[in-house]
This record gives sequence, C-alpha cells and structure tokens, in this order.
Amino acid sequence: MTQTNTAANSGNPQRARILTGDTPTNTGLHLGHFVGSLENRLALQDQYDCYFLIANVHAFTTLAEKPDQIRANTIGIVKDWLAVGLDPSKSTFVLQSEIPAIAELTFFFAMLIPFNKVMRNPTLKTEIETKGLGETYPFGFPMYAVGQCADILAFRPDLVPVGEDQEAHIEMCRDVALKFNQLYCGVNNRTPAERHHLEGGVFPIPRAKIGRVARLVGIDGVNKMSKSLNNAIFLYDSAKDVQKKLNKITTGRQSPTEPGDVNNVLMQYVEAFIGAGDPARAAEIKRRYAAGDNLGDGHVKQELGEAINALLEPMRKRREKLETPEGEAMVHQVIKDGVRKANAVAEETLSMVKKAMKVDFGSRVIG
Ligand code: TRP
Repeated sequence: MTQTNTAANSGNPQRARILTGDTPTNTGLHLGHFVGSLENRLALQDQYDCYFLIANVHAFTTLAEKPDQIRANTIGIVKDWLAVGLDPSKSTFVLQSEIPAIAELTFFFAMLIPFNKVMRNPTLKTEIETKGLGETYPFGFPMYAVGQCADILAFRPDLVPVGEDQEAHIEMCRDVALKFNQLYCGVNNRTPAERHHLEGGVFPIPRAKIGRVARLVGIDGVNKMSKSLNNAIFLYDSAKDVQKKLNKITTGRQSPTEPGDVNNVLMQYVEAFIGAGDPARAAEIKRRYAAGDNLGDGHVKQELGEAINALLEPMRKRREKLETPEGEAMVHQVIKDGVRKANAVAEETLSMVKKAMKVDFGSRVIG
C-alpha cells in the first residue's frame, strides 16, 4: 500500500493532516493575525486535510462568568474565518465543546504529564503574568494545556501551524504522543519521532509550523500589533481608516532623499504586504528607501494603503454579508457540519486510544 502522508488519515488518505485553533476570548482580527496565522491557513487548506478548532471550552478558563461573550465571540470567529476565506467545503471547522472525545482524551493524557511540568510550562507562566491572573486562576487554567494536547491529538495531525507563543504547548503535546505510543502501543523508546506512526503508534508526532511573520509590529512602530495597545489595523477597518492609520506612522525620516532604515515599521509592512504578492516591487522600494533615492514616506504609505486595502476589500464584503439573518443561519450550518465531520475522526481516535489502553468495553455512535 502506498500512502504519501504519515498520518492514519481516514478522511482523505492523500493529504497530510493539519490542526490548529483559536480561543474565542477576544474579537477583532487585525493584520498581525493575518500574517501570523490566517494567511498560512489559507495557503494550507488546498494542500492539506485541515481542521480549524474553536477552543470555546478553553475560553471559560478566564471568562467563566461571561458565557454571553464567549458565545458571541465563538460565532464571531466562524464569521471571521469565512470572511478571510477559510472554506468549510475544503476544511473542517471544529467546535471544541461539541467533541466529547476531546474531553475524554484530556483525562487520559493528564496521567501522562507530570504535574510540575504543566505548572512550569512557559506559555502558561507568561499568560498568568500578562493577564494578571495572580494566584486566583482556576484549576482549569493549567488544565487547558493538557486539553490542548487532546485538541491536537484527537485529529492525529502531522502539522500544527501556530504562533511562537504556542511552541511550549506543542512540545508538551509531542511528549504526550511519544509517551502514549511507547507505553500503550509498544513503540521502542529509541524510535525516532518521525517513525512512531509507522512502527505501531496510534499518534504521528506532530510538528509546530510557525507563520511567515512571527511578530508584526503595530503602527506605533514599537510594540507587537495588538487590540489592547491601540496600535492595530483591523481587517474590517474601512479603506479610509486603513489609510489614516498608516498616515499616522512616524519614522523620524525628514526627506525623500534621506537614506531610510530598511527595518523600520514602514519597511516591515512593505515586506509583509507588498512582498507577499510582488517581491520584486518590495525589493525595489527597500533599495530606493535605503539609498534615499527620492522615495518619501508619504509615497510608501500610499502604496501600502493600496496593497492592504486590495487585500482587505473582499474580506470586508464577505464579513458584511454574514451580518444578516441568512449569514447567521449559514454560520450555524457550518458549525453543525463541522461537528459531524470532526466527531467522525475524533471518535475513531478515541476508540484506538481505548483499545491501546485496554479500556475498550463499550461502543457508541455520535451523530
Ligand atoms: N491556545 C491556543 C491559543 O490561545 C488556541 C488553541 C486551542 C489551539 N487548542 C489548540 C491552537 C490546538 C493549536 C492547536 O492561541
């Protein structure tokens, strides 16, 4: 039998599998999200069997008293994905709370991760600091890192496209998969990760895939683009607002003949938003900018505005259409279809897991 991918991929044996996800704690996608992950997903959905997960259960780790907000954000994320161009006929949208196998796997996997290792997870530690969680966070907060292993492994993916901030979680997930395959599937502890699945392991050992632009600077030119820092260009800003925000950027450069810094915020945007479609033009801009070859900041801002607005215009249009009763109905249908497809795979994984763990006593069908 020839199989081109490494995953036990029942849905589509030709394509390797991908899983990634977002937590609905916030609304308002911006350009940082686009170049950090959404763009990557758009490119991947044609080549891979993709699963995009909405971690709505995880949202309760910090917003337990705001179920309305979590629900609205959950719907908002599906709309955002559709508007950006993620296509539910190519990819599977997974609503975490409707996939019981994820919750069950979380409990089993919790036995394979040392407690102290979870508590030392650097991503969790950073979150506790930046969100000011202090000593007050619930038990479920560190638990979500174990849950994330289950989100991923339920779909037995080969790749997990994420931002740099998630690397510690993916590492933990790899540890769980390695340990599971060794403990319950008889995989030798000297077997290299990439051969685990071929040597009897239930799980391929997934790898993180980091986006093209790991950190997009905000229009303040200093901090990472972020809603809370007020330095973001949102995907649904009007064309006028996009240009206005770009025009606010300051570089300290005095004239078009002054040699400019090719690493400043404007040039980073040129790379991110002109370089993607037209690398030759981006290189030309940078060359002239560095040489002080009569290329003013104002001109660059104008050209950037055009490139960014050309990218965003179709998204704005699609997002608007979704803000109607028909759009709302479509979102619910997309969720329902995704849940059905996702449960088929996750239930298959769970039954493989239970068999390997010798707890395969029952059988069930989830519709
Ligand atoms: N923790 C991720 C974030 O906040 C979201 C997430 C949940 C996720 N489950 C996942 C990402 C599984 C990748 C894979 O961004």
